[in-house]
Amino acid sequence: MKIVRSPAEMKNLSMMMQRSGSSVGFIPTMGALHSGHMSLLDRINDSCDFSVMSIFVNPVQFGPKEDFQKYPRPFDADCELAEKAGCDVIFAPSKEDMYPENYCTYVNVENITDGLCGASRPGHFRGVTTVVLKLFNIVMPQIACFGQKDAQQVLVIKRMVHDLNLSITIDVAPIFREESGLAMSSRNVYLSDAERAAAPLIYKGLNDGAIYYNNGVVESNALINVVTTAIGQSPLLEIEYVELVDTKKIKPVTSVTSAALIAVACRTKESRTRLIDNIVIGGTL
Ligand code: PAF
Repeated sequence: MKIVRSPAEMKNLSMMMQRSGSSVGFIPTMGALHSGHMSLLDRINDSCDFSVMSIFVNPVQFGPKEDFQKYPRPFDADCELAEKAGCDVIFAPSKEDMYPENYCTYVNVENITDGLCGASRPGHFRGVTTVVLKLFNIVMPQIACFGQKDAQQVLVIKRMVHDLNLSITIDVAPIFREESGLAMSSRNVYLSDAERAAAPLIYKGLNDGAIYYNNGVVESNALINVVTTAIGQSPLLEIEYVELVDTKKIKPVTSVTSAALIAVACRTKESRTRLIDNIVIGGTL
């Protein structure tokens, strides 16, 4: 496995691979890799000749009071994991190479970034789309894989790819869960033992919602209520939002008539860890 730091070298390598007829698949990450990331790598290794994983903690997508400084950065362990899972290249650029002095270009996907996480994390998606477009332009993949856990991120990136006529297929991988049901996340390392024990209630709530839907309940209020009640069983989970939105405009719906997302964000009481999770009902993302 090769570790590439320079964007120019990454671009050359990708160009060489494509010229020799190899397809390039890409997994953008911020590191602190876990089995969820490895499942994305497996998908790319199945569908592409050459796999590139980026590790870059993108400062532009963190708010001033968020966890940019303390975000876990176990770079050597990440490289070991990625190599074992068959990754061909780790692309790990520096902040200075990605955002040199006087950097002033940002990508903003409008409207669908206003709700859910966009409401509580102003500027977050602008930072995500900016870095993802930059990474796409450097790595030049045919396919890029993202996890469904960040469902709004997936929909925003798909919209950017469509609106800006990019020739990249976005592959969406199902949420990878711990045995308890807790969605895998690099931020789970922040959880106290008690919070870790409480956190699976989020998936339990989402699952209850899906069961209700499958039994014929389509009204949003009823479905949201089921999810909220399950999460409310633990005083360690503070709900930021439980919303039911359509998957096109990401706007709240009153009842489910086509693909819809039940999306949850919680903050834990002790470590103040932000946890998100979701389930799609009535269709796919
Ligand atoms: O999902 C993430 O880890 C990040 O938002 C991404 C897509 C790597 C952009 O920094």
